[in-house]
Amino acid sequence: MKKHLILLPLASALLLASQASARAQMATDPILVKECASCHLAFSAGWLTQESWKKVMGSLDNHFGDDARLPEERRAAVEAVLLAGAGDAKTGRASPFLKSVKGDPAPIRLTETYGFQRKHGKIKLGAAAMARIKSLANCVACHPKAAEGVFED
Ligand code: HEC
Ligand code: HEC
Repeated sequence: MKKHLILLPLASALLLASQASARAQMATDPILVKECASCHLAFSAGWLTQESWKKVMGSLDNHFGDDARLPEERRAAVEAVLLAGAGDAKTGRASPFLKSVKGDPAPIRLTETYGFQRKHGKIKLGAAAMARIKSLANCVACHPKAAEGVFED
């Protein structure tokens, strides 16, 4: 492991990422894919804690500025899947990786967690590349196979 920060142009970020993980830990559960993969790919439940998912699923009316409301029955079904697969579901305790680098014990952005930052902390993108990607939550921009067939080039 290199200790210093490296400046990765987008092309090598893409290359590294495609070598690092083809699927980038996206959810494959049919309920999550159906209800949570229309605006972005469905994030794997294991990236966040139960507390975090409760917050996300309790505020779908204002979901990062979007209205992502679901009929209550569907919402509850999605929440159940997320809680069952949450990063702390088995242990009941949140590992430090699930906490936010900003100090929030239950962040609603997985991109803010120590776990995510640990895997992506070395990536430094220029303004133009970042503008193209829009957000680190846009996994598929750098992990093209994050969900096969869903996005085209
Ligand atoms: C109507 C569109 C829409 C739907 C449907 C939707 N989302 Fe989102 N989601 C967004 C937007 C917009 C963002 C913010 C993206 C960004 O900052 O790049 C977001 C971000 C997120 C994030 C934070 C990503 C990060 O780490 O920055 C999580 C977690 C999330 N959504 C979970 C869900 C779940 C769970 C569902 C299904 C119940 C869902 N989303 C359905 C639009 C949607
Ligand atoms: C700006 C490009 C970029 C974006 C956006 C991005 N990644 Fe990555 N990701 C990378 C790179 C590059 C690596 C390899 C880092 C390394 O090896 O040092 C990586 C590594 C990973 C790994 C580790 C793979 C392994 O085998 O250890 C996972 C998991 C991952 N990313 C998931 C995600 C998820 C989930 C998202 C969206 C929430 C995402 N990434 C968004 C570029 C990106």
